[in-house]
Amino acid sequence: MGENGSGKSTLVEAIAVAAGLNAEGGSRHFQFATRPTESSLGGSLRLGRAPGKERTSFFLRAESYYNVATEIEDRGLDLAPYGGVSPHERSHGQSFLDLLTHRFGPRGLYLLDEPEAALSTNGQLAALARIQELTVQGSQFLIATHSPILLALPGARILEIGDDGGLHTVAYDDALPVRATRDFLADPDRILRHLLG
Ligand SMILES: Nc1ncnc2c1ncn2[C@@H]1O[C@H](COP(=O)(O)OP(=O)(O)O)[C@@H](O)[C@H]1O
Ligand SMILES: [Mg+2]
Repeated sequence: MGENGSGKSTLVEAIAVAAGLNAEGGSRHFQFATRPTESSLGGSLRLGRAPGKERTSFFLRAESYYNVATEIEDRGLDLAPYGGVSPHERSHGQSFLDLLTHRFGPRGLYLLDEPEAALSTNGQLAALARIQELTVQGSQFLIATHSPILLALPGARILEIGDDGGLHTVAYDDALPVRATRDFLADPDRILRHLLG
């Protein structure tokens, strides 16, 4: 986590590229590019791996899943891993949950960039439960998020990109989205008065 513009997407994207994934999202088999914007950082990273290669991997970025969906259709891919329907024929949030439910599986490596962008509160809770289930089955997730719900994943290590650009481990209760959301919900009127004058 970290403020807008702190570098979360740059970092997640670079790790995806270093892991052999498509910079615009998708699996190893997706190598399309509608508009290459990735930094060269991925080429300079070397990933440390635990023994035992992951069975599968996927890079989900909310901002360009539309292009991944188009690629799935254009390539005439089997839709079973996507819930049996083209992601274009589902809502943004539904297509994310389809992906988590059907395409993601045990012992996978999954990089997600702000998955909450598509999800309702209940959708985020459903995603949290599925992510927890997959981690118990040996999957690893690296998630850039502003969601106090997703940050609550049991056992998650929360890294914050600070003002100094450094990565710091923080406790759930100290994470900025958690503190800011709690403050707001505790007294919305007070925050609004302060904000709107
Ligand atoms: N393609 C790009 N070229 C140059 N600078 C970029 C590019 N994409 C993002 N940036 C800049 O890099 C910084 C980090 O961006 P980003 O990783 O997208 O932030 P975050 O995901 O944390 O909101 C921002 O200051 C942004 O303006
Ligand atoms: Mg981002």
